[in-house]
This record gives sequence, structure tokens and C-alpha cells, in this order.
Amino acid sequence: MKKLFPQIDGFIHGGDYNPEQWLDMPEILAKDIEMMKEAHVNCATLGVFSWSVLEPEEGVFNLEWLENIINNLYENGIYTILATPTGARPAWLAHKYPEVLRVASDNIRNHFGVRHNHCMQSPVYREKAEIIIRKLAERFGNHPGVILWHISNEFSGECYCDKCVAKFREWIKNKYKTLDNLNKEYWTTFWSHRYQSFDQVEPPYDNGEFSVMGLNLDWKRFTTWSMKDYMDHEINILRELTPHKPITTNYMRCFDGLDYDEMSKSLDMISWDGYPAWNNNYESLWQTAADVAFDHAQMRGYGKGKPFMLMESVPSQVNWHPINKLKRPHIHKLSCLQAVACGSDTVQYFQWRKGRGSFEQYHGAVVDHLGRNDTRVFKDVQEVGAILRELKAVQGSTIKAKAAIIFDRQNGWAIDGVSGFKLHDMGYERTCRDWHNALTKRGVEADVVGCCADLSGYSLVIAPMLYMLNDGVAEKLKNFTANGGVLAATYFTGYVNKNTLNYLGGFPGDGLKEVFGLYSEECDVLYPEERNALVMNEAEYELKDLCEVIKLDTAKSLGNYKSDFYADTPVFSVNEFGKGKAFYIASRTESKGTDAITDVLLKASGIETKELPEGVEMHIRDNGDSEYVFYLNFTDKEQKVADTVLAPYDVQVIKHSK
Ligand code: GAL
Repeated sequence: MKKLFPQIDGFIHGGDYNPEQWLDMPEILAKDIEMMKEAHVNCATLGVFSWSVLEPEEGVFNLEWLENIINNLYENGIYTILATPTGARPAWLAHKYPEVLRVASDNIRNHFGVRHNHCMQSPVYREKAEIIIRKLAERFGNHPGVILWHISNEFSGECYCDKCVAKFREWIKNKYKTLDNLNKEYWTTFWSHRYQSFDQVEPPYDNGEFSVMGLNLDWKRFTTWSMKDYMDHEINILRELTPHKPITTNYMRCFDGLDYDEMSKSLDMISWDGYPAWNNNYESLWQTAADVAFDHAQMRGYGKGKPFMLMESVPSQVNWHPINKLKRPHIHKLSCLQAVACGSDTVQYFQWRKGRGSFEQYHGAVVDHLGRNDTRVFKDVQEVGAILRELKAVQGSTIKAKAAIIFDRQNGWAIDGVSGFKLHDMGYERTCRDWHNALTKRGVEADVVGCCADLSGYSLVIAPMLYMLNDGVAEKLKNFTANGGVLAATYFTGYVNKNTLNYLGGFPGDGLKEVFGLYSEECDVLYPEERNALVMNEAEYELKDLCEVIKLDTAKSLGNYKSDFYADTPVFSVNEFGKGKAFYIASRTESKGTDAITDVLLKASGIETKELPEGVEMHIRDNGDSEYVFYLNFTDKEQKVADTVLAPYDVQVIKHSK
């Protein structure tokens, strides 16, 4: 059992609450408490973006309202997650100290406005943030109602100001030590781009240097370093003043601006904000669900298997998808319980009450402008709150995944930066999702982890398109296989080292040729409408996009290309390596091919599968004594799984004592 909040008996159900927008309407605030209790809400996230109310003028503080709210909530059985308010800054701060504003990649400083718009290296921003954070921590840090710190909000963005550029140079110097080394790793003799001094290094400005792949990648790594450095500044203050209060920050879905594996090193628990487009017009409901299962699995990966938090979700519609559809009947319950089934110990919303104006006035909330407790949405939320109470024994249980998909942010950056092959989307994320979906369909739980994760507990690891091998990664994959693991890699594996220099002598590099018993000679790229096929066991499976021509050494072919000049050469192969097996998939399969290959991989790794009707997901949470099997029906038809009958859109949770 790994309960996130031992003091709370059951799941957290609640969400972002912005009473500061309603301070002049006390009747609304009183109603909020009443309605929260009706909706079985036991936690509110306060303080996100409250800086201008907490410190209306520099050095003038107004914290009474927050104290009243926290006390009032607590007296009514509602806990507080308290945010540092630094996700957006007050106007006085930006106008008096313009250095706190970011400089964009065109080298122009932003104006005051929106949010997430501060320079991470500005000493003034850090100083002013520290003052307000200390005030909050000193006043509320030991309040029994405050259970968690929420740092800022959804960190994102980059800053190209002089201070950041100077830090970037320092970071580069620290990494490469000598100019000679830097010039070699960046391959700068190409186009005469050699640096004569570290002071000449600039970030990839829009009108500057963006043709050095290693530099582009380092800028992204630096941005993560800089953001984490800023986040750690906030965290250190809180660790000093309230060492016993845990800390999180809210992540976004598959956000590619930061390496969350790095950020997670500073956090006590992982939380994320999920806003899928349920019932969209481009995929089935269960395909949307399968992708969300991937997102949840990624959060488990960041948290090293511990339960995570669904910090934000919407009970109705958002305001920022191109088309903002209402959640259809049943979907709220299904989506919330899917989060729980996949390892979340919280169901939280953005937001409790819909604001009257500004950017998010049409963003869904538990309580909308009607202010009533008998709306469809309110009742949906109430229902979920009641179900979570019934399921409270599940809280703290974990998911024991036997499989893992490696989906690594830095590798994704390296792939996005590739100049060649398929220029406008190599499809890395989609590919990882597709492999995960194939496992989900078979009732096989797979964590989604970065390339530095500990793989020792898994029987099967699928590492799609692991183009860049960070230090130690090849060695880890090798040991995993040698010790009996089943490893599967695909086309586009092991082309470059951590600084994007190609391996010489054949891909996959860094010793992986021996693990897979083959090398890749060429990589063909197909036009969107073109197809080849994998011929395996007399069946054919369509192939698209990328077709590597591979040469086997010790590996055995399990299936060959059907056509083109590389017809009859291998697509799918296996190599016995140590006590394990290493499979290689040289081309991108359509779902039938992915399914057929997945069956081979699962058989080889001895992982049990479950016959599930199309559109039904199964997840198991395990608390040591019992297993809770969740069946979720993402179809509009009745479905049967073993002895369980699922009504359309139904969820059933079945307990098995061990
Ligand atoms: C999140 C953000 C919230 C709110 C929400 C709207 O990304 O953290 O503050 O803006 O989106 O969907």
C-alpha cells in the first residue's frame, strides 16, 4: 500500500477553487461549501494564480481571506491543496521589474499578460516569489487542513533573455569542458560553424543557429534544467519551512516542452491534468480511452509505480479544443473511474465554479453560471463522489505491470530535430501509443517509462524508435535481455549518441547490433498512400511510412517484406541473447500487424492475456491482500467478460481476495 495521503480515508475528490474571484459575493462562498458537501468533495486546490490578491501591492499582503477559506473548508471536512501563486504574476511586478518577463525566440521581450510568462533565471522573480511563498508557508504550512503543496501551475515555455543565454553558455561549458570537445560533438566543421569561444554559443533564435542538431537538443535540455532549477528554488523554501508537507506540480498530457523525468526527481508525487476529447469525430470512444490509458501509464512511470493524482479534468466541456463538445451521459463516470483503474488516487476538476469573465468563462466547471445543484453535470460529479467513497479500499493500491513501453522525451526531441526521412512528423508518440494500445486491448498492463527507468521488474520491454541512446541505455537494454527479458525494438533504433552524432559501423549502435543480431543498412521512406507488407506465417500485414532494410547476423527472420527491391528480406526478427530474446521490427505496422507481433512478444515473455471484447478495458489494482479488477465498457452495447455483464458504458469493479 502506498497511500498518498495517509490522513485521508478514501480518494480525493475535488478541484481547483478560486474564491478570490468571488470575495465580494459572500453568499456565493457560503453556497460553495454547502454544494461541495453535496457533491462529496473533500479537497479544494487553492491559490493557483492568486498572487495579485495575496499581494496587491509590492510588500502589502492580504492573506486573511485565504485563512478564512482554508479554515472554513477544514471545519466542513474539506482539505486544501495549496498552490504557490507563481504561475502568473501581478501587474506591479511586471511593470516595475520588466526583467521578470520572458524574451521569446525572436529576441523580443513579452509584454505583461497571460500566464507562465516569467524568466526562470530572473533573480528579481525568484526574490519576489520567495517572499510570497514564505508568507504562505509560515501562515498555512502547518495547518492540518493543508495536505499538499502545488508548485506554480503547468510549467512550460522558454526564455531567450540575456540572463538565460549566459546561463546556457555556463551549462554548455560545464557539459563539454573544452571547445574542441564541443566542436566535435556538435560537428561544427560542417558549414564552417566552429566556435572559437564559448561566448559565441547562442540558443536557436528564429533568425539564428538552428542547423546544429546537438545544439537544438541541448537547448531543450537546458530549458528543462532551468525550469527545474526555478522549481527547486520554490521547493527548497517549502522543504525548509514545512519539511513534512509533500510537494507536487501539475503535468500536462504528453507535453513535449520539458523532460518530466527530470522534473519528477524533485517531487513527492506525480499529478497531471487530463483533458481528452471524448466523443470526437475522428476515432472511436475506446480508441480515445486507450490513449488516455497510455497517459495514465506515463504518470505511473514518472512516479515509479506509486499512485498518482488526476489533478485536473473537466466534468463537461473545455474552452480550448477546436470544438468543445459536452461530455455525453455516462462518460464522466467512465473517465473518472478509468483514471482510478489506471492508478490515480484522486479525481479532481478544473474547476469548482465557472468564472464570470475572461479567458475561461466558458470552460466547464462543477458549478456553472446557473449556480444550481440539480444540473446534469453537478449530478454526474455527485455520482462519482459517491462511487469513490464506496471504492475507498482501493486507495493506495498499485498496478503491477509486467510490461513497459519506453517513451522518452529526450529521444522524442532528438527525433523531432532530425533533418531527413519524414520531415513533418516521424510519428514517435503515435507509435509508442499504438504498441501500448495493443497491450491494453489484451488486458496487459504496461507502464510507460523513460529510457533511464529501472527495467528489472518487467518481463517485456518494447522500445519503439529509440533513435538516440543516452549514456548507459544500451548497456541497460543489453543486461535486461541477457538476464532473461524480452526486448523489442523497431526501425530507427540506435542511430545516434546523446549529442546526436551517428554511430559508425552500423545501426543500432553502442553494442546493440549484437543484442539484436543484425544491422540496419538503409531506411526507405514511403509516401503516405504507399504500402508494403510483412509476410508472416502465410498471412500479410500492411506496412507504411518507414521500411528499414536490415541484414541479419545471428538473428532469425520471423517475417519478410512482400514487395519492392527489398522483397523477401527480413522485417521481423528474433535473436537469442543470454537468457532472453531480442526482437526487431524493421517497419511500421498497421494495427493488425502490431497485434500479430504483440501476440508473439507476449508469448515469448510468458505474460498472460485476457480475451476482452473490442472496446472493453481491464485494469487491476493490487493492495497486497486483494486485487480490484476494473472492467470499463467504452461501447454503447452490452458486453460480457468472463462472468461479468457490462451494460453500455458500464464500469464494474470486482474484488478478489488473495
Ligand atoms: C489547465 C490549467 C488550468 C486551466 C485548465 C483549462 O491547463 O492548469 O489553470 O486553465 O487548463 O482546461
